[in-house]
Amino acid sequence: MINYKTKIAEELAKIVNINKEELETYVEIPKDTKNGDYSFPCFKLAKELKKAPPVIANEIKEKISLEGTGLEKVEVIGGFLNFFVDKKMLAEGVLGEIASKEEYGRSKVGEGRNIVIDYSAPNIAKPFHIGHLRSTVIGGALSNIYKFLGYNVTGINHLGDYGTQFGKLIEGYKLWGDEYDIDENPIDELTKIYIRINNLCKEDEKVLEACRNNFKKLEEGDPYCTELWEKFKAVSLKEFQKVYDLLGSKFESWNGEAFYSDKMQEVIEILEKSGKLTESQGAKIVDLTDAGIDTPCIIVKSNGSSTYATRDLAAILYRARTYDYEKALYVTSYEQILHFKQIFTVAKYLGLDEKYVKGLKHVPFGMVLLPTGKMSTREGTSIKLEDLLNEAIERAKEVIEQKNPDLEDKDETAKRVGVGAVIFNDLSNNRVKDEVFDWDTILNFQGETGPYIQYTYVRIKSVLEKAGGVPDIKDVDMEKLDDSYSQDILKLIYNFENILIQVTEKEEPSILSRYLIDLAKAYSSFYNGNKIIIDDKVTKDARVYLSYATAKVLKEGTALLGMEMPNKM
Ligand code: ARG
Repeated sequence: MINYKTKIAEELAKIVNINKEELETYVEIPKDTKNGDYSFPCFKLAKELKKAPPVIANEIKEKISLEGTGLEKVEVIGGFLNFFVDKKMLAEGVLGEIASKEEYGRSKVGEGRNIVIDYSAPNIAKPFHIGHLRSTVIGGALSNIYKFLGYNVTGINHLGDYGTQFGKLIEGYKLWGDEYDIDENPIDELTKIYIRINNLCKEDEKVLEACRNNFKKLEEGDPYCTELWEKFKAVSLKEFQKVYDLLGSKFESWNGEAFYSDKMQEVIEILEKSGKLTESQGAKIVDLTDAGIDTPCIIVKSNGSSTYATRDLAAILYRARTYDYEKALYVTSYEQILHFKQIFTVAKYLGLDEKYVKGLKHVPFGMVLLPTGKMSTREGTSIKLEDLLNEAIERAKEVIEQKNPDLEDKDETAKRVGVGAVIFNDLSNNRVKDEVFDWDTILNFQGETGPYIQYTYVRIKSVLEKAGGVPDIKDVDMEKLDDSYSQDILKLIYNFENILIQVTEKEEPSILSRYLIDLAKAYSSFYNGNKIIIDDKVTKDARVYLSYATAKVLKEGTALLGMEMPNKM
């Protein structure tokens, strides 16, 4: 397809004495399409040409040639040159690409570039909570999008499967294991054991000592402790997998915190040698005041055990060496901003090539709030994730039952709509914003929701059916798509790959969600403004083909977010 920005820059470079790469960076997309599809602000040239921007604009307008650029005209408003794309050529370019590519927008911009994404990362023997859902959904969408752009992506589920709490769990299980059915209901039962042993530890110093000892034994590879730990891990993972199955989540690596148990010593040695490790109240820490961080990073606790931070530092070493990453992303809630600031600063002292330190990037996201306030386990307002997804499916089924009681395959459709609604809701706003979770809003077929996009898609499917199928691209008369409804859709579709690139620049999947809403809305306007199934076959074919193109992009885009389209709903 034509790259209009490049074309404009090339033509301008023939007139002014500035290289085309620089000129291209100045080309803008005006907010109001009355001001053209692209515009060039001539004040960028005022210094060089020593003239007023409107004078420059008029002079360029006289000299510039638009031949072969895909642009049909240029106008001057004030100091701006406003360019308008040739409508027929836009349609030819976009629909030609839709016809010839199995996956429209797939590209190779990321070829040979390695990205590591650390996401989901629930904790063994603890509930998979709504924060882990957000991490799973955001990280999963980023992973899909990077892959689609040709990057080599390693998605890592950095499970919380290590730490002193396992010493406690082992002790609790040793004492009362047969009272709890952890195979049947692992997370709930293990949580009960954990609460009970924790209370006992507070009363009895000897029990606490035994727990610490268990963790030490686990670190040393004691068979009994290891066997129990493996059991806790296996039953927890089985439970987490139910959520991953519903969401369709897949990871390239499941190396959790425990994977680094034998890799932390190196971190400690490097930091010791660098002189950055200091003693403080029996603990080994790295002081970060020079970097403007008040809280030091604890590397070894006073009781000799390692920390969450130490394991993350070992992981950085490992990932740099194993994956040679350009970017290593960490998708967690903003509650961990300080943690990542700390470890990214300490990472500078690990002796790694600078590019690996530069490539570290925390991707924080906001809290999920109920209309009544923050979810909290203590107050019992926390929703279990599997329950939440199942409730979404139930509710979607009720809506379908009302709207379309005769639908075949109601269960599968309800699953796609319900899960899709939750995923889309998670991705529809700027990720750092707190999100209010409200059933009626997220399942509203008319709102800016996942179901709305799915509904638009299904509607197009039925248009295609009524039309008797998709016409051959050779029979499509591109001139029939010069109305503003059609042109709005074509411009959006033209921009698809650019939108995906923007997502990767900001690690912000909501850019894609907003785009899909815009595309669905543009289609609704087109559908309401233009009759599609009409006697004039030439116009009909063109409109049907545009409908097909829209459906293709809606389906690909939602798939990148992790959603599945229903065929009917
Ligand atoms: N398990 C952690 C939690 O639930 C998240 C881990 C994030 N990844 C990391 N490398 N620290 O809060």
